[in-house]
Amino acid sequence: MESEIVHAASISTRSSPPARGPLSRGTLAFWLLPTLLSGCAHDAVAEGEAIYERTCENCHGADGTAGIQVDGVAAADLTVVIPQFSDEDLATMITEGIGAMPAQDLQGREVDDVIAYLRATFGE
Ligand code: HEC
Repeated sequence: MESEIVHAASISTRSSPPARGPLSRGTLAFWLLPTLLSGCAHDAVAEGEAIYERTCENCHGADGTAGIQVDGVAAADLTVVIPQFSDEDLATMITEGIGAMPAQDLQGREVDDVIAYLRATFGE
């Protein structure tokens, strides 16, 4: 009987990691939670702005109206055309190109993010 109790006690001591009580588990959650939250909080418009600056701005300009010529065709004024197209249309134009505009090398979330930026900047 006595040896069983000692045995059980030694198991329970071994099963909990040394020097880690509920407090350190709370401390772990304290550090882990913000990390998880910041991993989830994705700022699509901010990401999209960075993508726009390195992908679209050369031809369309920072304000969307630059109209740089490609093969004699002016890049569309985004302040005019963006509200005319659905997100699906825009995604197709961006990834496949349209007319004189070459396909842009963006995928998945990059496309969603740049469209979020286009909507926020040039209209719904
Ligand atoms: C190499 C220059 C170039 C780049 C880079 C470029 N575009 Fe264009 N874009 C054009 C040109 C030129 C047109 C006009 C195409 C035509 O009418 O033949 C155009 C047209 C468009 C149109 C209107 C299409 C239509 O049918 O009216 C949209 C929307 C557009 N671009 C969005 C974007 C976005 C978003 C990006 C970045 C992801 C981008 N473009 C990158 C040159 C460019």
